[in-house]
Order: sequence, then C-alpha cells, then structure tokens
Amino acid sequence: MTTHERRVRSFHSRQGRLSPLNATTLESHRTKYLLEPHQAINLRDVFDQEQVVLEIGCGFGEATVAMATAEPDVGIIALEVHTRGVARLLQNVDAAGLTNIRAANTDAVPFIRDCIAPLSLHGARIFFPDPWPKARHNKRRLIQPEFAALLASKLAPGAFLHCATDWQPYAEHMLEALTASDFTNTTQNYMPRPDWRPLTRYEQAGLDKGHAVFDLLFTRQN
Ligand SMILES: C[S@@+](CC[C@H](N)C(=O)[O-])C[C@H]1O[C@@H](n2cnc3c(N)ncnc32)[C@H](O)[C@@H]1O
Repeated sequence: MTTHERRVRSFHSRQGRLSPLNATTLESHRTKYLLEPHQAINLRDVFDQEQVVLEIGCGFGEATVAMATAEPDVGIIALEVHTRGVARLLQNVDAAGLTNIRAANTDAVPFIRDCIAPLSLHGARIFFPDPWPKARHNKRRLIQPEFAALLASKLAPGAFLHCATDWQPYAEHMLEALTASDFTNTTQNYMPRPDWRPLTRYEQAGLDKGHAVFDLLFTRQN
C-alpha cells in the first residue's frame, strides 16, 4: 500500500492482525480477484464487460456485491484501504460466483492516478465516505476539488459519479466541490434516494441515528 505518500489521509488508520480466515481468503483469491496497486491496468485484459465502474471505499462490499449481481454486464473495480473489508468482499464474491468484480486493497488516490487510463471508466461510486465531521479534520475528506479533477480525468465523457452521504455538511461540501469541477449535476442539488442503491451498513448506522441521506448524481462533462 502506498498510503505514506499522501500527507493528508482520507481514512482512519486501523491496527490489528488479520484473522487466519481473512489471510487465507486474500491469498487464495489474489490472482483471481485482486488487482495490484502501482501497475497500469488494461481494462480489456481484466474484464469481459465493456463498461467498468469504480467503487471507492467499498467497506465490506455489500453494495458492490448487490450491484454486480444486478448488473452482470458491468465490471466493477472496488477499492478499499482496509484489508478486512476486502477479505469479506472476496468471500462474498466467491460465494456468489461473480465474475465481474475485481478489488484492490489500497488507497484510492494513487491507484486512480497510476493504474487507471484516462477517459476509460463508465462511472464511479462513492457511498458514505468518511465524513470527518470535526472542522480541523474537514481537509481529510476524500471529495475535494483536486480529487474531483483526478477522478474526472479517468471518466469517459458523460460517465456518471454517484455519491451518497448521511452527513449534511459533507453533502454540501460535495455539491460545492463537484459543481466547481468538470462535472454537471443531473438534478437540482440532491436526488431522491434511488431504490436500486443497496443499503450499506454505514447508511443503516446513519439512519439509526436519525440522519437524512443525500444522494448526488453528476455526469462528467463532454
Ligand atoms: C464510512 S465507510 C463506508 C463504507 C461503505 N461504502 C458503506 O457504505 O458501508 C468509508 C470507507 O472508505 C474507506 N476509505 C476511505 N478513504 C479511502 C481511500 N483513500 N482509499 C480507499 N478506501 C478509502 C474506508 O476505509 C472505509 O471503509
């Protein structure tokens, strides 16, 4: 992992050993499902599917597996910095027999920069990114103008960017950062929660606290 190369990280450091099951899962699925960070990827070599969507910060991958099942004609690259989440995702991918998911256990920022070809993605999803609610931590939020520009450079013209959050100040921050970048909002501010977006554990945790959920759907300008 190349997390050390960015001074401001969008994720929490987590310590702890991987369980033997998770370690075995990662090792046994490495060649089948895992993408190596730092290497340029030719999407045609990896996927049979024409359209490839990136999911950033997939957590334990509930949405990833549900959406890959619902859309077998779309390839998904799931990025997650925390290894336990990736191991859980791979267990579920294998159990479901899905062939349209690949994952990388890495910081999304250098991965997107180094591994993804310009204008190559059909879309990107960022569901419930860490909100970093304290003012002194706001700079750690993943979605910033610089990140929006990086992501836009890898999306095909007209490709979508779907973000969701249960933290209103972050939703407002996303609106501002994305509106000021190479994206066009498909709707006025937020769109109603689409019923095809799977409920994730972080969304459920937000709902349990009484939070509203904000979905943002942008397209990359032509
Ligand atoms: C709040 S969780 C949400 C997970 C999942 N999307 C969900 O809705 O349940 C945010 C996730 O993003 C991951 N994350 C944060 N910054 C990241 C980065 N730069 N690269 C990859 N993953 C990142 C965190 O490790 C965490 O698992």
